[in-house]
Amino acid sequence: MPLQDSYTLPAAADMHVHLRNAPGPIASLATPTIRRAGIDTVFVMPNLAPRPVVSVAEALAYKDALQQLDSSVTYLMSLYLHESITPDVIREAKRAGIAGVKAYPKGATTNSQWGVVSFDPFHDVLKAMEEEGIVLNLHGEVPSSAADGVTVMNAEIRFIPVLKGLVEKYPKLKIVLEHCTSADAVEAVKALGENVVGTITAHHLSLLVDDWSANVHHYCKPSAKSPEDRRALLNAVVTSNGKFFLGTDSAPHDITSKKGKGNTAAGVFTQPYAIGYVLTALEEAITRGDIAEASVTEDALAGFLSGYGRQFYGVAPAARQIRVTRGGARVEESLRGEGVEIVPFRAGETTWGVEWL
Ligand code: NCD
Ligand code: ZN
Repeated sequence: MPLQDSYTLPAAADMHVHLRNAPGPIASLATPTIRRAGIDTVFVMPNLAPRPVVSVAEALAYKDALQQLDSSVTYLMSLYLHESITPDVIREAKRAGIAGVKAYPKGATTNSQWGVVSFDPFHDVLKAMEEEGIVLNLHGEVPSSAADGVTVMNAEIRFIPVLKGLVEKYPKLKIVLEHCTSADAVEAVKALGENVVGTITAHHLSLLVDDWSANVHHYCKPSAKSPEDRRALLNAVVTSNGKFFLGTDSAPHDITSKKGKGNTAAGVFTQPYAIGYVLTALEEAITRGDIAEASVTEDALAGFLSGYGRQFYGVAPAARQIRVTRGGARVEESLRGEGVEIVPFRAGETTWGVEWL
């Protein structure tokens, strides 16, 4: 069996989570599962509906509501890049401790209908972010367009020139290319300066295009790609050196949005077992020969799962530790709350369990 049977690690940080509206039934189910996964710090995405988080007051009210669901988690808050955001809003955000501004290309994913068509109108906002040290979080896909030959399979690769253009224009801006899914994205992030990093999810370390084409619960944006892409992500995890860290993109949707009459909602719910899923994926990758067993060191795990993300966002190192143990958890078939049912990733399977030390 590759890997040790258990590891003692610093508490994890998950720098890309969707918790949905709070108070609300999905937030009530999802938020208490953060700690269960061994995570004590999360970067919270602002793509709420019917109204995204576009003001400092809304972000602080959202944070407060999340704290009422679990006050032991540190919530790093974000704004949704939108025409109502001005350089003054950015300065106010900095004073209020807001960590980032998320840009969704319009039409690329869940609740991106208020998103960005071009970055040009945001020049002064991006300049203010660069000055204030507010992070730009990028959903790195262009919207699908048959006319331009863009599908979910190349939407991320087509975004890379946009990323490079932003870096050229705003060289000091801190940028996260969120949920990298392709070898090209990994290479692009590696080639850019130290203020440009990437997050990697747990599920993209195991899923391929064939998995989501067969199972709606594996469908998300950006979608999982080829074996070569997955190998590049796995290697980026174990050789990160601070360039890549965990951002699960855990994205809960009620089962009716996944399996109803309309289009399937994009998003995989990984929150409660996120750290276990990463370890399971690394084990499977060693067995396949995608990564060397020796590359999965405690330092590499601690950096990717905890230290590098905190460092990038200027958060103190974890104060507590967790122990992760092979086979220590069984994923439930679904989580049910007030009128909602969410199917977690790898439902019914065994994964690594987490204990707080
Ligand atoms: C996310 C969601 O459901 O909010 N969905 C997803 O597939 N990842 C939005 C996003 O991050 O793209
Ligand atoms: Zn997301």
